[in-house]
Amino acid sequence: MSKLNKYKRFTVTSALPYANGPLHIGHLAGAYLPADIFVRYLRLKKKDVVYVCGSDEHGAAITIKAKKEDTTPQAIIDKYHAQIKKSFEDFGIAFDIYHRTSSPIHHDLSQEFFLNLYEKDEFIEKFSEQYFDEDFQQFLADRYIIGTCPNCGNPNAYGDQCENCGTSLNPTDLIKPISTLSGKTPVLKPTKHWYLPLDKYQPWLEKWIDTKEGDWKVNVFGQCKSWLKSGLQPRSMTRDLDWGIDVPLDEAKGKKLYVWMDAPIGYISATKQWAIDNGKDWKLYWKKQASEADESCLLHFIGKDNIVFHCIIFPSILHAHGEYILPQNVPANEFLNLEGDKLSTSRNHAVWLHEYLEEFPGRQDELRYVLTSILPETSDSEFTWKDYQARVNNELVAILGNYVNRVMILMHKFYDGKVESEGGQIVLADNHISNELGRFYGELEAALETYKFRQALQTVMEIARLGNRYLTENEPWKTIKTDPAAAKTTLHNSLVMIGHLASCLQPFLPHTVQKLVNMLNLPYSAIGLGEEIAFKNGHQLNPAVLLFEKVEDEAIDKQIQKLLDKKAATAPKAPEVVAPKENISYDSFATMDIRTGTILTAEKVAKTKKLLKLTIDTGIDTRTIVSGIAEYFEPEAIIGQKVTVLVNLEPRDIKGITSQGMILMAENAEGKLAFVSAPDGMHNGSVIR
Ligand code: MF3
Ligand code: ZN
Repeated sequence: MSKLNKYKRFTVTSALPYANGPLHIGHLAGAYLPADIFVRYLRLKKKDVVYVCGSDEHGAAITIKAKKEDTTPQAIIDKYHAQIKKSFEDFGIAFDIYHRTSSPIHHDLSQEFFLNLYEKDEFIEKFSEQYFDEDFQQFLADRYIIGTCPNCGNPNAYGDQCENCGTSLNPTDLIKPISTLSGKTPVLKPTKHWYLPLDKYQPWLEKWIDTKEGDWKVNVFGQCKSWLKSGLQPRSMTRDLDWGIDVPLDEAKGKKLYVWMDAPIGYISATKQWAIDNGKDWKLYWKKQASEADESCLLHFIGKDNIVFHCIIFPSILHAHGEYILPQNVPANEFLNLEGDKLSTSRNHAVWLHEYLEEFPGRQDELRYVLTSILPETSDSEFTWKDYQARVNNELVAILGNYVNRVMILMHKFYDGKVESEGGQIVLADNHISNELGRFYGELEAALETYKFRQALQTVMEIARLGNRYLTENEPWKTIKTDPAAAKTTLHNSLVMIGHLASCLQPFLPHTVQKLVNMLNLPYSAIGLGEEIAFKNGHQLNPAVLLFEKVEDEAIDKQIQKLLDKKAATAPKAPEVVAPKENISYDSFATMDIRTGTILTAEKVAKTKKLLKLTIDTGIDTRTIVSGIAEYFEPEAIIGQKVTVLVNLEPRDIKGITSQGMILMAENAEGKLAFVSAPDGMHNGSVIR
């Protein structure tokens, strides 16, 4: 507790997940597992800590999902809030409160924040042109507009981002914007919004961020510096949306608070609710105190996509308000990938937490262990099912489980599971082990306090490795015959080490620790961190149970197959192709004279639906061709079109017009047509063969 010792109190937050879908392993590895481990550690250190989170229930993320599922936003948030809450409970994420941003206490507080800044005249009021759907009589959120990406030409880019090339966009950047509500072209209309002057706060932010150099993780600090370097712009804190917290001004009817004037304030409103429920004072956890030494240490655990919001925007809001503390640290993680591909909710490429538990019931600690081992702490990392299997089998089963099992089995075999100690209780009687344990505790705490959870977990596993080596070297199953006193010492020392393991595993594998204390026949509260368990003379151990079981190949293959099946189900279907024709000879092909040409004029053939009368420059001559493409092409649009023409087709009379040849068209199975255009740089009359 070196560095953290100076804090009396801790306020720990994990990013509020959107209540628009279930949780997957990427969520857990990003903002929740690390925070949970850290908080469990703080609690073991007897620190005063509140750990808050809740569902983010506003914004376009929710309304879009509601539209997709053909239901109301309220039904969506109720459904997913319940499901997400349960997943967190199942996996032992030990929030003090898991709240909701739809609650009145949160609406009130967010509006209070807005008004506080409004009354201080912090906002810049600006009109801007925004897309408006005239059929639906509403302004369109960025995600409600699709169009062609100006960068890569993807026709389905969103108003805020092109998912094809990753460019971040403004709705007005899109070529041919379309409203996803009406399917029509939206119009630009002026609308008023309230902007937070980040540029004004920039000098203050720079000074503050610079004090974090060397303390914050490099990935986080680096991102902040680069944002500051490119210069901050005012950001609108209000939106024209239909689902969210009302902007508390008469002139802002129908406008809502932007997510960053809403969601992070959810950390505070959750704390308020927790304080009401538990008779605490929420202000101690959020507000500046008379002396800095009395202030809480605020820590935000998030994924990297939220860094700018937690390091720049939210601190600016807190600073502008003036009464609030700022985060001491923002230990953001990078992203977790799955089987060589990005985790994706829309493509259903994910391991969903509720599905995992259906297939691996009771095995939440196995997942906690594997995810902690591969946390994307400094760079993106990857989950694969083979790696999951290997870590469970080779580490949890073969090292940790095996060690505990060997000791427990021998204790029961030799002593009927009863501790017999002349001295009244067992004491660790081995200098080497004692020194090693001391070293491990030091390393464990140092790693935890610098947010290196992967390393911390490895250190704990060192205790099990040490235990296994100790047993193998001392062979109590042999010495029980030659030197029974030595055998007893070996097993008693081993039992003490199991106690230390249980102690150190608490932040990481809470369900396993529960099994361990049951086996040891001790209350959970008997194990502090770093305190030796005093097994009293006569203490009866419970029968040995296996802590972990091997994961078989079939279980893993099934999961891999499931991901492949999901991929196949969401992949765009291969287009249908028209059946091939019979073979022909080269000679019959060679009889065709196909040339490049250009359409000079085009007009509808009177009293027909399908026919266009075209004049074509074929290079050989200018001729008339009647073509059945009128349903697909406007005559004016195809003048100048480069084409390819079968020029030696026998002339035919169509509706009184002599058609001299045929324009070649590509047609797919759905009947969509396109010109077989002449290649660039070929003059009319070039031969195609
Ligand atoms: N729900 C948003 C997201 O997942 C915001 C979470 S961070 C918070 O990106 F601070 F707003 F809670
Ligand atoms: Zn693009």
